[in-house]
Amino acid sequence: MPFSPLTSVADGDTRWAARHMPLVTRSVRARAAAFDGKRIAMCLHIEPKTAVLVGLLAEAGAEVFLTGSPGTTREDTADALRAAGVTVVGRRSDDEAAHRRNVERVLGCDPHLVLDNGADLLAGVMAAGGLPNLIGATEETTTGGLRVRAWETPPPFPVVVINDSRLKLLVENEFGVGQSVVQGFVNATNLMLPGARATVVGYGPCGRGVANTLARLGARVSVAETDAYRALEAVMHGHEVAPLAELLPHTRLLFLATGAPSVLDGPSLDLVADGTLVAGVGHVAWELDADALAERTASISRIGESGAERATHLLHDGRSLVVLAGTRMINLTAAKGNPIEAMDLGLTLQARSLAAVATTPLAPGPQPVPDEVDRAIAADLVDVLTR
Ligand SMILES: NC(=O)c1ccc[n+]([C@@H]2O[C@H](COP(=O)([O-])OP(=O)(O)OC[C@H]3O[C@@H](n4cnc5c(N)ncnc54)[C@H](O)[C@@H]3O)[C@@H](O)[C@H]2O)c1
Repeated sequence: MPFSPLTSVADGDTRWAARHMPLVTRSVRARAAAFDGKRIAMCLHIEPKTAVLVGLLAEAGAEVFLTGSPGTTREDTADALRAAGVTVVGRRSDDEAAHRRNVERVLGCDPHLVLDNGADLLAGVMAAGGLPNLIGATEETTTGGLRVRAWETPPPFPVVVINDSRLKLLVENEFGVGQSVVQGFVNATNLMLPGARATVVGYGPCGRGVANTLARLGARVSVAETDAYRALEAVMHGHEVAPLAELLPHTRLLFLATGAPSVLDGPSLDLVADGTLVAGVGHVAWELDADALAERTASISRIGESGAERATHLLHDGRSLVVLAGTRMINLTAAKGNPIEAMDLGLTLQARSLAAVATTPLAPGPQPVPDEVDRAIAADLVDVLTR
């Protein structure tokens, strides 16, 4: 019996997810030949939906070497995968230095294919001056796509940037992240949303999903957005829109969804209302300037598990700021990640793009998901959701 997410992974959540992931299941099984015999270096958040993809790739005959991102690994899923024979390196509690070592270990498998999340593996490949057997890669996130595109020397192999998919932006980033971030926030705090004053910084697909979900649940939502088109969109969706500095003194719940560094910088921290709670949505926990916060902090009290803690910073001027899970993605640290159907879609894009990289001669460098792949999956998803 080959390794399979439905039978081999001794973890109920993974088997539950597998039952609700028909698109990726069909997609990998139909393209098994593209994966058979391939070594795949993978960096993805380790949780049950990821385990389904890993299981399907292994069932197809690939050897997967997996690491996660600091703070988001579900240990029970990682252990279930290890017990099923997959090489999984890293722990939830890993810091950035440990993560870099995990990346090196995963790349040590001499991969044919790389499936990345945030471009950490790809940065490792480039730092090593390339890898002899590497055919190409996929990159999951906006942040990783921007990172690869900013490199002076583009990768000499194809990198399909999954987040460029129209379909992913709509289904996963907007509706999936919207629902799961709000779910994570409620799990982490047990606070009530109706009537609460919430500000979402960044009105890309993720911020839009969070803002609209909060508003549907009765929060009073404001948006800070530097791009005029997106700011206009937020106004037309009924949100208050203003510069962040004007919103901070009246905000109780703050969601950071820009993907950009130091958005909540020192001068902004000087404006936050006493007792503000701040949660991260973006891929990297750098939207809150940690050094600026440390300079202003007199003492910290922490409640909860390391990596998912509520840290109350008492500031020198007497105000307090509650940082949830160090602003790591709240939908992963305090909820079960994106809804299963949204991840079925995202991982189907991954699987079909990776199969295209393995079997078709694509141009080198970063590129979007081929349009025909995007449209075919959209049609399949309409079919699944309306059945
Ligand atoms: N939590 C999750 O599960 C999850 C899932 C997918 C993507 N992400 C991450 O979420 C982040 C956002 O993704 P997206 O697809 O919405 O990205 P995006 O780039 O489309 O949107 C970000 C928005 O932030 C705005 N912005 C940038 N700097 C700003 C500032 N200083 N003040 C106000 N607005 C500012 C930009 O103008 C843009 O409209 C990325 O880091 C992405 O990797 C998280």
